[in-house]
Amino acid sequence: MASFDASRLILGVETSCDETAAAVVEGGNRILSSVVASQVDVHHPYGGVVPELAARKHIEAIFPTVHGAIQRAGISPNDLYGVAATRGPGLIGALLVGFSFAKSYAYARNLPFIGVNHLEGHIGSVFLSDDPPDFPFAALLASGGHTGIYKVSGHTQFQLLGQTRDDAAGEAYDKVAKMLGLGYPGGRIIDELARKGDPEKIRFPRIYLDREKFDFSFSGLKTAVGRYIGANEKDLEDQIPDIAAGFQEAVVDVLTEKILLGAQKSGCRHLAIVGGVAANGRLRERVTEAARKQGIGVHIPPISLCGDNAAMIAGAGYHRLEKGERDALTADVYSRAL
Ligand code: KG4
Ligand code: ZN
Repeated sequence: MASFDASRLILGVETSCDETAAAVVEGGNRILSSVVASQVDVHHPYGGVVPELAARKHIEAIFPTVHGAIQRAGISPNDLYGVAATRGPGLIGALLVGFSFAKSYAYARNLPFIGVNHLEGHIGSVFLSDDPPDFPFAALLASGGHTGIYKVSGHTQFQLLGQTRDDAAGEAYDKVAKMLGLGYPGGRIIDELARKGDPEKIRFPRIYLDREKFDFSFSGLKTAVGRYIGANEKDLEDQIPDIAAGFQEAVVDVLTEKILLGAQKSGCRHLAIVGGVAANGRLRERVTEAARKQGIGVHIPPISLCGDNAAMIAGAGYHRLEKGERDALTADVYSRAL
């Protein structure tokens, strides 16, 4: 059996969107188990997440997922030090399943409980990798629901420098994939298709807004791709890899420039990219190359920790519990970023 320090073991639970996830993490950085039950097949026919279906599927999956995480960690529930669950932002019905389950789990075993902000979880996911950054560092969080740049000065200290004014980067990937008839979720599909295309062939607009600031806008790019698709319906099939590559290059150009500027302007010698879009091969490559040229350290979690998972929630929860923070069993979930 694996050795562990029971005074530092946290059970994490995450159900903010379409993954039912549970994990056991020791000391905020050592993963003993991480189980993710995906609902992709359930939502695929609808081209996006259907909130009511997501909540129902979480209800079916929550018990086996948590049980699986405890078993795979090789521990007993009595070994736990605390329980953490995503409190928001996310889909209310989905959040309620994991959050309520986790509160009951903690109550039944008389364990401390903490609700975790999903975005804080994503940022903290970089501490679960083999190469965590030193503080302070600049973080690009790019997911299906959020895109922003943060200065991170401690495990619970974040300063938002700027964020998207309309669509998130992952949302743009999903919408473009839908317009091209590629299915859901679109990010990974476009990432793969783009490898077969020429990123320079079709030039889509790069929307930087104020080049000295950290706000993003992706809705204009999405509209430009839609217009191109409309004007090229006859021979669209052959052009799909080039459209995917051209769209991706426009997203990656903007994300790369802004996170490097974020590191420079906030005086950070390290940067991290986190969230579902951080799984993107081209983004990982471009940010790594650009940062190396400027002598800035780059930290990116493994792909399995970029998308939604509960290890990041357990990790972030550990640091909150360590500070003595607790949430009452009357605590409620929230849908939007606080
Ligand atoms: O972090 P995440 O799993 O959930 C949210 O918190 O939103 O991010 C999901 C998003 C989706 O929009 C998905 O299309 C995108 O991340 N994504 C990717 C890739 N893998 C997932 N985007 C670009 N390239 C990828 N390889
Ligand atoms: Zn997420």
